[in-house]
Amino acid sequence: MDTEKGRNDIEFENGKALGTYWAALCLDGLLRTRQFIRGINEAIKEKTNNKKPIHILYAGTGPFATLILPFIFRYSKQDIKYTFLEINPFSFKLLKNVILKLGLEEYNISLINSDATKYQVDSKNEPDIIISETMQNALAKEQQVPIFLNLMRQVKNETIFIPEKINLFIGLKKAEIPLEEIQSKDYKKEMKVFEVSKESMFPSNNLNKATATEVSFTKKQTIIRNEKLKGFNQIVIITEIQVYKNEKIEINESGLTTPLFIKDIPNDLKSSISIDTQYIISSEPKLEYKITYHTPNQLA
Ligand SMILES: C[S@@+](CC[C@H](N)C(=O)[O-])C[C@H]1O[C@@H](n2cnc3c(N)ncnc32)[C@H](O)[C@@H]1O
Repeated sequence: MDTEKGRNDIEFENGKALGTYWAALCLDGLLRTRQFIRGINEAIKEKTNNKKPIHILYAGTGPFATLILPFIFRYSKQDIKYTFLEINPFSFKLLKNVILKLGLEEYNISLINSDATKYQVDSKNEPDIIISETMQNALAKEQQVPIFLNLMRQVKNETIFIPEKINLFIGLKKAEIPLEEIQSKDYKKEMKVFEVSKESMFPSNNLNKATATEVSFTKKQTIIRNEKLKGFNQIVIITEIQVYKNEKIEINESGLTTPLFIKDIPNDLKSSISIDTQYIISSEPKLEYKITYHTPNQLA
């Protein structure tokens, strides 16, 4: 995989898909991988209590289907059927090899080389659990949001999405702490500015789902008064992930939740700050922001 072909990311109008080599390396984000597997374990236990077989759709498997592989051995064909979606043809080819080498053909696994932002769910074979980890910190660059939007609008409310919730906050980083010593307590969340979850994206359930093709996310404004900036030296975007129920990835625990620096705060700043934000899906998805400085009178 460590070749030019394997290292090349693929660009799409909704964001990029990682090169095979990078997708394989996600496994090494040990805390990430553990938390996702623990969350998926909870969701599977819950769903298999009521129904068999359950159907798991995994969007963006990478070459190893890392987050699901441990479960394939644990549950029988009668318990779980799988649909694996992967957009990168090289990752898809290696995934097929992995499945063959591990002798998994006897399990009920459908392998589909296609784009999860456009994939049409078969209404007669709706998934009970949908998994995708196609994100970076601050939900930048990759296709997590368009993938979940496409899939959320097609399925019933009972479908569990993994991760269950991703929150972005405007936050502050404490001053005078060297980068290598920084801990999650050194960041302060100011305001939640974006949430990815079934509840936030489709609050009125099925009614609007079919028509919600043109998406524009709510603009938010975070105002931080000058006195609240004292002792902090950076404005950041903070990411928190609720994988499922109590299984979470908190600030700075993984590359996916590393706070993203957006602006230095000068020591002698006399003004307050407002930050206008809106999440945008484009060839480079991101939380767009505009920072404005205000004199105390302007905010009064
Ligand atoms: C961050 S990697 C994660 C790999 C693996 N699931 C893991 O957790 O270790 C994301 C994978 O999703 C794939 N992907 C990205 N966008 C996709 C899309 N729109 N449809 C299907 N797969 C996609 C990428 O090619 C890549 O293999």
